[in-house]
Amino acid sequence: MERETLHRYRDIIPDFDAFLQAIRSERITAVRWNPHKVSRARLIEELEECFECVEEVKWYEHAFRLGYEEKPGKTLHHILGHYYIQEESAMVAALVLNPRKHAVVLDMCAAPGGKTTQLSALMENTGTIIANDKAIPRLKSLVANVSRLACLNVSITWNDATKIQAKECFDYVLVDAPCTAEGNLQERITLMPRRMRESLSRLQRNLLAKACELVKPKGIVVYCTCTFAPEENERVVSSILERYNVKLEPLKLKVPHAKGIESFGREQYGCEMRKTARIYPHHLNSGGAYIAKLKKRG
Ligand SMILES: C[S@@+](CC[C@H](N)C(=O)[O-])C[C@H]1O[C@@H](n2cnc3c(N)ncnc32)[C@H](O)[C@@H]1O
Repeated sequence: MERETLHRYRDIIPDFDAFLQAIRSERITAVRWNPHKVSRARLIEELEECFECVEEVKWYEHAFRLGYEEKPGKTLHHILGHYYIQEESAMVAALVLNPRKHAVVLDMCAAPGGKTTQLSALMENTGTIIANDKAIPRLKSLVANVSRLACLNVSITWNDATKIQAKECFDYVLVDAPCTAEGNLQERITLMPRRMRESLSRLQRNLLAKACELVKPKGIVVYCTCTFAPEENERVVSSILERYNVKLEPLKLKVPHAKGIESFGREQYGCEMRKTARIYPHHLNSGGAYIAKLKKRG
């Protein structure tokens, strides 16, 4: 059977030609400063010693662009955990969660630890982050990254997050869900088969439902993916809004983005979805992302 292509999103992605061009272009390499290990000023010196092009990112002082650098991990400073290689679009969700110092946080799908280590930096190594993942090979990278970056407030667990037996014990929960990762496509614009999308959509809904059970009243849940498929984004969030005691919070993003969509084909998701955000590759010359912020009613 012929596979679908990114053209299925032609009607929902504003400036579709710019989007396709960005998908086919090389992406800017970005890194994130790890304040647990080095001062920002010292990191800038180190990056400038090692790379030809170092640019500060205006919307986030922890982020730096290294042009089209192919080997950003080749330095001793990387091995020492002074910085983490991460796409700019992937840095937004942890900022939306924005956990306060000393909070108790669950990162449900944490490996290899990009967002866990960012949350740890935001919390200045205080409080507790439970960084969980289901896949053992990926947990090894999570352990390595958490220890390389000296994230002392992180404990790592190995669970299917949909089966965690607890209730209302976290101030914040991040659901960085497994997805079809269409936001990382380059050149190849053919999508994963529809059955995979549908099965991921069910898993994503179960993960987000569990997050809503695990978060305390008035606590915050952030749901994110790196895919464009509405079945994995707005459909998941709208189905949870119908069944759980949570509401969507408006996002105040400092990065260019499009609003979440109200419908796709025959599916209706509702106007509340405009409170969620879609970041496309042409917005940041980075990957794609979808982000929704939910608050549990008190
Ligand atoms: C998008 S990746 C997470 C990336 C990570 N948050 C980061 O920023 O580096 C999704 C993760 O979900 C994990 N996963 C898939 N199903 C899961 C489940 N039922 N419970 C917990 N983790 C799961 C996968 O192993 C994968 O590591």
